[in-house]
Amino acid sequence: MDKNANIVWHHATITRERREKLNGHRSAIIWFTGLSGSGKSTLAHAVEEKLHLMGCRTFVFDGDNVRHGLCSDLGFSERDREENIRRIGEMSKLFIEAGVIALTAFISPFRADRRRVRSLVASGDFIEIYCRCPIEICEERDVKGLYRKARAGEIKNFTGISSPYEEPVQPELSIDTGSMPLDQCVDQVVSYLQDHGVIRKP
Ligand code: ADX
Repeated sequence: MDKNANIVWHHATITRERREKLNGHRSAIIWFTGLSGSGKSTLAHAVEEKLHLMGCRTFVFDGDNVRHGLCSDLGFSERDREENIRRIGEMSKLFIEAGVIALTAFISPFRADRRRVRSLVASGDFIEIYCRCPIEICEERDVKGLYRKARAGEIKNFTGISSPYEEPVQPELSIDTGSMPLDQCVDQVVSYLQDHGVIRKP
């Protein structure tokens, strides 16, 4: 039997449109994807800082943080990663309805999982940003010491080493986080948002 058979959708009177009008900007999901250590979280938080100073309502979902709470029951098998991304996708969709610019920083290594999130929302609401950084640089940085552990066989299914990362085919933006200074990476994202009517041009 359909578990949801007796559940009826309740329509809010305060709609996304009304919230967006109040906020003075559109809501959207800015989806950062890339290898561990590629700079997703750093860039997401730096973009958030800039948007916040511009008066935007924002929130960052970060892989490492979310895995301490909402997704603490999940590991790094393909199935668990799929479920991780599904939950974040649904959560981000709710944030869109709340009028917020949701920035997400998850490896999200599988194209199918990212495509599924894209298909949850209207065209233009999902902005995929590939944080392009060669694995050699991520490994050299090894901010969390995880690449060293993965090479030593202490972590299994590690993205880029023992688990695949599927590069985006047509992301809205591809940013060279391995070589470009952070402020330029931020400017690229903010310009995109202005050029596509998410936030106003100054
Ligand atoms: S995802 O693949 O499901 O999108 P997510 O972004 O939530 O991954 O979590 C990635 C973070 O978990 C990495 O930045 C790293 O700190 C940590 N981590 C722990 N084990 C692994 C692993 N096997 N593969 C990748 N990252 C891991």
